[in-house]
Amino acid sequence: MNKISTQVAIIGAGPSGLLLGQLLHKQGISNVIIERVTGDYVLGRIRAGILEQGFADLVREAGVAERMDAEGEIHEGVEIAADGERFHIDLKGLTGGDVVICYGQTEITSDLMAARAAAGLETYYEAENAQLHEVTGDKPWVSFEHQGEQYRLDCDYIAGCDGFHGVSRQTIPADKRTEHERVYPFGWLGLLSDTPPVSEELIYCKSERGFALASRRSATRSRYYLQVPLDDTVEDWSDEDFWQELKKRLPADAADALVTGPSIEKSIAPLRSFVCEPMQYGKLFLVGDAAHIVPPTGAKGLNLAASDVAALYQILTRVYHDNDTDCVSRYSEVALRRVWHGERFSWWMSNMLHDFGDEVATGMDSKTFSRFMDSERDYYLKTEEGKTVIARQYVGLPYEKV
Ligand code: APR
Ligand code: PHB
Repeated sequence: MNKISTQVAIIGAGPSGLLLGQLLHKQGISNVIIERVTGDYVLGRIRAGILEQGFADLVREAGVAERMDAEGEIHEGVEIAADGERFHIDLKGLTGGDVVICYGQTEITSDLMAARAAAGLETYYEAENAQLHEVTGDKPWVSFEHQGEQYRLDCDYIAGCDGFHGVSRQTIPADKRTEHERVYPFGWLGLLSDTPPVSEELIYCKSERGFALASRRSATRSRYYLQVPLDDTVEDWSDEDFWQELKKRLPADAADALVTGPSIEKSIAPLRSFVCEPMQYGKLFLVGDAAHIVPPTGAKGLNLAASDVAALYQILTRVYHDNDTDCVSRYSEVALRRVWHGERFSWWMSNMLHDFGDEVATGMDSKTFSRFMDSERDYYLKTEEGKTVIARQYVGLPYEKV
């Protein structure tokens, strides 16, 4: 048995774990990351690309923002096309100057991985069978296997950054946690292509045929999504089928301008809203997707992980720098307040912009639900105060001081 120790054990080397690890290191707080798969596998996951100001500021504080600030695109607005009209949401104008950065999650993860390696921080990739022990005691520890060897990692705290399918949330006894879930009756088929994006700004489209999103990674790389039935598979969709369907859902002039090409990645993701309460148990903190999932309609997944990291970073800095442990118990309350705002916004945008077919989403006939949503869009997309509500939440509500 190899015995090692650190101050904070981090489970998971996705964006949450890597960002937290870098920030703690900056404060001289030792940490070890245990990751189940290889670094290349982590980088192979194609995910979102919209960063709130708060996220970008955290990356800057971590000292890892050079490429993001050089290559990330500042977006001052976003477009919603619905009911035969196109509505520009002037993020900057409606929020008094706030904007978002368009920069792929893969890029952020790559930058964080490189910074961690450069700092010589310990990351055990391909670590198997991680188990969390004595999380309600004074000295929790983590066991895992790595390259055929058994390890015991002693620590003061454990940050469960291991995503929706990780081990951390399951470590909280079922009778000690409440899980809130809404599974949507459709998925998103995403396609990545080295083609120039159809628009400078993102276009969220509600069409008669279902939802579509035109996003981007750079001036030469595009990311598109189509709402698809839950039982569709990637094999059902040739590139040509995808492009033809996207053209039918985009506004006409965008469809005419669409440059198609071979997909370099194509995948289907289910949509769910999920929150685990509380987000802490003893000395275990749940961070990011380990605690919550949002439908990507509000671009909040990565950004809510960042606000969890911000809260935990504040707390652990006070613990180790000021010997203040009173704030430890406040993590879940502070993190959940902002998580629920992101959950609600993502659920609300999904309700407004997708076709729910025959699903009786809320105990009412789907046609009745659809009429309610027609009115929701009529108010929020056609009034200044309505667009301001969308803009304020899209750029991200302020982070709370613990
Ligand atoms: N042991 C070690 N590592 C694990 C385990 C485990 N038992 N289970 C999962 N992991 C790793 C996964 O391999 C993954 O690399 O934890 C990491 C979790 O990363 P994410 O799922 O990306 O979650 P998070 O870091 O919170 O980032 C949230 O990233 O995936 C997107 O949509 C998500 O935008 C959101 C953001
Ligand atoms: C993306 O670029 O992948 C993206 C952008 C905005 C969203 C979801 C995904 O709301």
